[in-house]
Amino acid sequence: LDNGLVRTPPMGWMTWERYRCNIDCKNDPENCVSEHLIKAMADQMANEGWRELGYVYLSIDDCWTKKQRDPNGRLEPDPDRFPSGIKALADYVHSRGLKLGIYSDMGNYTCGGYPGTTLDTIKTDAETFSSWEVDMLKFDGCYSNDTEKAIGYPKMSSALNATGRQILYSCSWPAYEGGLPPKVNYTQLGNICNMWRNYGDIQDSWASVLDIIKWYAVNQDVLQPTAGPGHWNDPDMLITGDFGLSYEQSKAQLAIWAILAAPLIMSNDLRTISQEAKDLLQNRLLIYINQDSLGIQGRQIMKVDCLGVWKRELVNGQYAIAVINMGDDGLPRPFTTSLGLLNVTQCPVGYKLYDVFDRNYLGLFNSETTFNLKINPSGVVMLFIQPASVVNHMKRHGSYFG
Ligand code: GLA
Ligand code: GLA
Repeated sequence: LDNGLVRTPPMGWMTWERYRCNIDCKNDPENCVSEHLIKAMADQMANEGWRELGYVYLSIDDCWTKKQRDPNGRLEPDPDRFPSGIKALADYVHSRGLKLGIYSDMGNYTCGGYPGTTLDTIKTDAETFSSWEVDMLKFDGCYSNDTEKAIGYPKMSSALNATGRQILYSCSWPAYEGGLPPKVNYTQLGNICNMWRNYGDIQDSWASVLDIIKWYAVNQDVLQPTAGPGHWNDPDMLITGDFGLSYEQSKAQLAIWAILAAPLIMSNDLRTISQEAKDLLQNRLLIYINQDSLGIQGRQIMKVDCLGVWKRELVNGQYAIAVINMGDDGLPRPFTTSLGLLNVTQCPVGYKLYDVFDRNYLGLFNSETTFNLKINPSGVVMLFIQPASVVNHMKRHGSYFG
């Protein structure tokens, strides 16, 4: 969608995966979906280095409204959990240098059973969100049929545009249509949406992450060309810092999401996150790769046994490579390769290689030099590859490893 937003994939935080539809503020005041939770995360994002790295969207997912619309037919927040209202919350979020996201659903109800946005309330809801100075809308698709979605998703895009406010528009539409052509029209989606979910919900487990990665690999011929500046595939939230992934698995999710030019939207608890998880999510070189200005989604270029080799072309002749070990037998696996075998051969004077997660410089390589990687089970090795002729970007972007 050409609305000037997200020329690189959006980064931020969202309630859903970690906090779900927790509305029990009496017994769980720190973790219920409420203005208190959003403000607490805003403070973390502003004070703990997240915002400076690009994590600026802070998004409320399902279960924020009352069970009914107000007498004027408008959505209103649950007064016990959002006593100050959404406009005041947006003001708070903006005062921290961040952007506020909100959720609605094209259908009679949201997936969690709250009032949905029907075809006749699209205009009202777009105007309500704009009047609250909301910056992002995730538009889900429960409780509507195909015909209603086909009318409603473009209609909401126009309605948001008509408000005159720049609002990032995230569409769950393709996820409800199987994610693939001919049912899904990616040309149309790219014109009306800034990003879209095309597959099932992520859960807090390695099985879920692996399932998503495999689906993106199998369908990459369809999906890869659809992404670009202003319009991105969304494989769903980052779960690093939660309960389900090991350290290696967290790296693997982050590496593949960076290669996929995916939105980096965390769903975790920034108040209690471990230093280890924070260091992964704040890895500057990883973020540099994800945010590459060409905006070309990467691809799985080889699959050797249970190793998947992923490659993304970056600006200035640079590349990122991720080798993921999808095996579950506990064996670290060797992978012997060369830049020639990875088809990185254009620069006659060779390439500088960096290990993204180990944060070290591996040296200067030409296309024939073979090298050995060792990839831990359900883990990854990620390389950043820079033509030796490129003036050192370490200086231009600050230290990647800082
Ligand atoms: C669907 C979406 C999720 C989340 C829930 C909310 O399952 O795919 O991302 O928004 O609804 O109920
Ligand atoms: C039919 C009804 C709609 C909606 C959808 C849900 O189309 O007419 O109001 O309930 O089913 O699938």
